[in-house]
Amino acid sequence: MTQKKKLIVGNWKMNGSLQFNAQLLQALCDGMGQPDCAVAVAVPAPYLAQVQSLVAGGAIALAAQDVSQHEAGAFTGEVSAGMLRDFGTRYVLVGHSERRQYHGETDAGVAAKAQRALAAGITPIVCVGETLAEREAGQTQAVVKRQLAAVIHANGHCISEIVVAYEPVWAIGTGRTATPEQAQEVHAVLRAQLAAATEHADRVPLLYGGSMNAANAAQLLTQQDIDGGLVGGASLKAADFSQIIAAASANQASAATK
Ligand code: 13P
Repeated sequence: MTQKKKLIVGNWKMNGSLQFNAQLLQALCDGMGQPDCAVAVAVPAPYLAQVQSLVAGGAIALAAQDVSQHEAGAFTGEVSAGMLRDFGTRYVLVGHSERRQYHGETDAGVAAKAQRALAAGITPIVCVGETLAEREAGQTQAVVKRQLAAVIHANGHCISEIVVAYEPVWAIGTGRTATPEQAQEVHAVLRAQLAAATEHADRVPLLYGGSMNAANAAQLLTQQDIDGGLVGGASLKAADFSQIIAAASANQASAATK
């Protein structure tokens, strides 16, 4: 089987400015060279146009951080999938834990957002993950399966077109990373769940997110079902993000020689 390329996505969250973005992307392009993996940055909506033009023709794809579950209309403050497409958006995060936690997003709402993205030709990166309390209560698998099941239920016919990101909430921004074994265990569960829904489950990139950094990326990316990373804090530092991209590229190269 040919090894699919790893996918490294930076999630800038609510950070950046016109000046910061331009400097970061310039330093990133200089630092990463020609990566042997796919790379994207998920930027705040007001910067889509700026980043679209800065990354045009290069190796970095454009991603958004959220999308409305509605197509158009009286939804003040929302951004539609069609609007994202107008700016060349390739991916959009849906159901990030910060949206679930601070904006009351439900599994059904996240599934509807994935549907809108797919209908617009944008790949949804569906985020799932358990809180610390849920992990300690032994509910990790039940929680991620419930979150993914809603998306499969609403999008069964094109479920092989999505990306899934496993982001344990307790590992986000805490410096506390899941061990490669902990992450792989959950990724295997997600892969099996996808395999029950589509014969193309192998095509679905499963990303790990949660304090991924230059020091731990290589080890995480060697796990069988970890196909890439969703990187928060470290994606705001060109040197760190470049090193994560290099780790994903090296992993690709070593898999190809096996
Ligand atoms: P950190 O890498 O800062 O932990 O953030 C992870 C994340 O939430 C990416 O979406």
